[in-house]
Amino acid sequence: MDFVELIELPKILDERGNLSFLEGDIHAPFQIERAYWIYDVPGGEVRGGHSYFTNQEIIIALSGSLDVILDDGHEKKTFSLNRSYYGLSVPSGIWRHMENFSTNSLCLILASTAYNADDYERNYDSFLLSKRTN
Ligand code: TYD
Repeated sequence: MDFVELIELPKILDERGNLSFLEGDIHAPFQIERAYWIYDVPGGEVRGGHSYFTNQEIIIALSGSLDVILDDGHEKKTFSLNRSYYGLSVPSGIWRHMENFSTNSLCLILASTAYNADDYERNYDSFLLSKRTN
């Protein structure tokens, strides 16, 4: 799972409160086309459960914590995100779901493509099959 990268973002520590930032050209391995965020997740809920054919993403736990479980068809890995200055960069073709959202967690996702329902692989068996034939 070497192609999954945890990007450490700058943090400007300040008595008035800390500040972090992400600049597309510097920190993102792709051109950012879209941002969306997940919030008010009820306890025990699971998000995701799919892969993308082309979309790439950076996942940031802006507030609180969550677990991102990634699966490349051969290996599964859990990333526990709980710092707002780390971005988990996930290429296309990786099955993912997110769980263990803490109360009031806020998860920001930066994506390389506009939303396209046809870019989702939601069938896990088909996903696995595509990995076996690769
Ligand atoms: P989905 O990607 O399935 O959510 P998750 O993977 O986090 O469980 O999206 C849920 C709904 O929101 C679905 O009806 C599509 C819609 N949606 C958009 O319209 N635009 C977007 O950018 C995203 C991410 C989702």
